Amino acid sequence: MRRAKISIIGAGNVGATCAHWAAAKELGDIVLLDIPDREGVAKGKALDLACCGPIERFDSKIIGTSDYRDIAGSDVVVVTAGLPRKPGMSRDDLIQTNVGIVKSVCEQIREFAPDSIVIVVSNPLDAMVYTAWKVTGFPTNRIMGQAGALDVARFREFIAMELNVSVEDISALLLGGHGDDMVPLPRLTSVHGIPLTDLLPADKINALVERAKVGGGEIVKLMGTSAYYAPASGTIQMVEAIIKDKKRIIPSAAYCEDEFGVATGQKGKGYFVGVPALLGSKGVEKIVTFKMTAEEQKLMDESVSHVKDLVAVVNKLFPELA
Ligand code: NAI
Ligand code: 2OP
Repeated sequence: MRRAKISIIGAGNVGATCAHWAAAKELGDIVLLDIPDREGVAKGKALDLACCGPIERFDSKIIGTSDYRDIAGSDVVVVTAGLPRKPGMSRDDLIQTNVGIVKSVCEQIREFAPDSIVIVVSNPLDAMVYTAWKVTGFPTNRIMGQAGALDVARFREFIAMELNVSVEDISALLLGGHGDDMVPLPRLTSVHGIPLTDLLPADKINALVERAKVGGGEIVKLMGTSAYYAPASGTIQMVEAIIKDKKRIIPSAAYCEDEFGVATGQKGKGYFVGVPALLGSKGVEKIVTFKMTAEEQKLMDESVSHVKDLVAVVNKLFPELA
């Protein structure tokens, strides 16, 4: 059987940690690519990781490079290239710089890995996924963004801490853009099937929801740069679902035209927002919809409206993408 090939663009904190999780799970061969000035870093991290193979018992080949020819034949390409935020910055503050970086990276993906499935991680996430879609021209099932896998993991972890139960027993869902206006859904959150709303009072649940929303910012304040272990873990959860054709439902930034009230009314004019996505070998194979309450729909509409504002900035900077 042919081994899967996973290319990761950007060998910084998130990119290198993605390579780490992918190797540890032996998901396939890995290419870690960065700009020519940082080729040594990409090569060094790849070699260091490769030397874990005998200890961790994986046979994945891992290379570092700055040459896009090395990504040819990739099954999945993960885009982590771009600036992370610093204390006091929002994800949106990164748009001016990162849209140019993601655009140039995606031009290379279009040329060298035209059959790949692309998972974008760079921020501001929802606008960068849109950029990747426009630049590559790939069908919408082959373009998605990682945010929900992380945000829901944070929400689950904070619930587990509060209740002192195993994270494994917590099932949760979260929708919307990857901003502080993301939409956690306590109504659809349970502890081994028991509704969270039966186990905690509303004020405690609201505090957990708020902590999940600003979980990224909490870590930026502590470390001076943005998180990478859990973001990479969430990304590799998506990669694994695709490579193993697991048909997992993972909240992901996926293309919507009329789902969850995104309603653009025009074919081909949709937006990428966080929704429950069924991930398998074809990428986003389905968006799983359900009926929201009026209050949830209102929060979703606010979050989607924010995503639309960010996309408008992208279209203003690069009118040819609109
Ligand atoms: P980092 O600064 O550690 O790494 C970024 C890497 O991208 C650097 O190695 C840099 O040389 C590389 N890079 C820059 N321009 C490039 C180009 N044109 N081609 C190839 N590589 C290029 O940053 P970190 O912490 O890894 O974050 C990366 C991105 O991921 C940021 O935009 C950050 O905001 C975002 N992020 C998104 C999350 C999510 O849940 N969606 C979570 C955490 C971070
Ligand atoms: C996070 O949520 C900054 O998007 C990044 O940690």
